Amino acid sequence: GKNGLQVAIDGPASAGKSTVAKLVAKKFHYIYCDTGAMYRSITLKAIRLGLDLNDEEAILNLLKKTRIVFEPGDPVQKVFVDGKEVTNDIRSTEVTNNVSAVSALGSIRSELVKRQQFLARDGGIVMDGRDIGTTVLPQADVKVFLIASVSERAERRYKEDQTKGISVSLDQLKQDIEDRDYKDSHRKISPLKKASDASEIDTTSMSIDDVVKAISRLIENKIQQLSNNKAD
Ligand code: CDP
Ligand code: CDP
Repeated sequence: GKNGLQVAIDGPASAGKSTVAKLVAKKFHYIYCDTGAMYRSITLKAIRLGLDLNDEEAILNLLKKTRIVFEPGDPVQKVFVDGKEVTNDIRSTEVTNNVSAVSALGSIRSELVKRQQFLARDGGIVMDGRDIGTTVLPQADVKVFLIASVSERAERRYKEDQTKGISVSLDQLKQDIEDRDYKDSHRKISPLKKASDASEIDTTSMSIDDVVKAISRLIENKIQQLSNNKAD
């Protein structure tokens, strides 16, 4: 793209995608797009309106009227739905436990993928999710697949919840993460899957900084390679 590369970061729940993607975007002055927040936003709105989460037509009609906007923020990006901030509300346990059902609906995915591709059209973007390298940006310049063991990921979520004052047991978190991983990897439409040309990084015993450095190296190498090609 004319403004920089398209960087796709995928992986299972709590592998560190959003934390790392945001830092990488900052480093390269790219836009950051958290596609999970889009699936969470429509899930939140559908729950609040009392919709049946299996009623695809009703949820699609709702989504078409729903504006989802991101704004830079620290430590997390701010999310607005129809002008109202939902940054914290979309992380509730209720949304977390229902988002995989909504994200399995084909027409909801098509609509959000369209919006994601529009946001990425000029490059200069780091996008994280489950299907970015496989479906949303199959031509992405850099593709990363972040993984970590289930216990490490549950531990990370546990610490995060503690700082927010949410009390969920480690065993419960582990169970929730496994359930969501299973649903996300087994759905019919664009399941969570490493793209064949993605670089897999196991972050189990890596610090956030280590992961940011590893991804930055991939981006710098790609930038170098692209400028060499131009010179040829
Ligand atoms: O941050 P966390 O790993 O908990 O999840 P997220 O990235 O906020 O994504 C929440 C859910 O949205 C996932 O469990 C998937 O069901 C869905 N999702 C998806 O289907 N495709 C994406 N590109 C991103 C998220
Ligand atoms: O977006 P995703 O669900 O993949 O993960 P996240 O929301 O970024 O959460 C990962 C949590 O693990 C955050 O609390 C990070 O501070 C922490 N963490 C990490 O992201 N990467 C590491 N290498 C180590 C810890």
